[in-house]
Amino acid sequence: MKVQIDQARCQGHGRCYDLAPEVFGEDEEGYGTVLGDGLVPPDGADDARRAVVNCPERAIDLLEGT
Ligand code: F3S
Repeated sequence: MKVQIDQARCQGHGRCYDLAPEVFGEDEEGYGTVLGDGLVPPDGADDARRAVVNCPERAIDLLEGT
């Protein structure tokens, strides 16, 4: 499973890196970033899904099966 953030949609709400800090980080302006190449560790899948549904801008794409 992999995640990516659509930077054009992200408004910096910060829920992604609050809910799944093992998957997301923040840049110096508070916008979300993916850590590394966005690959979700096996025990981070639930947190990653939670982040996806809680992003108010729907800016996070989840790529299952990757
Ligand atoms: Fe951006 Fe959504 Fe995270 S707006 S900072 S991707 S919760």
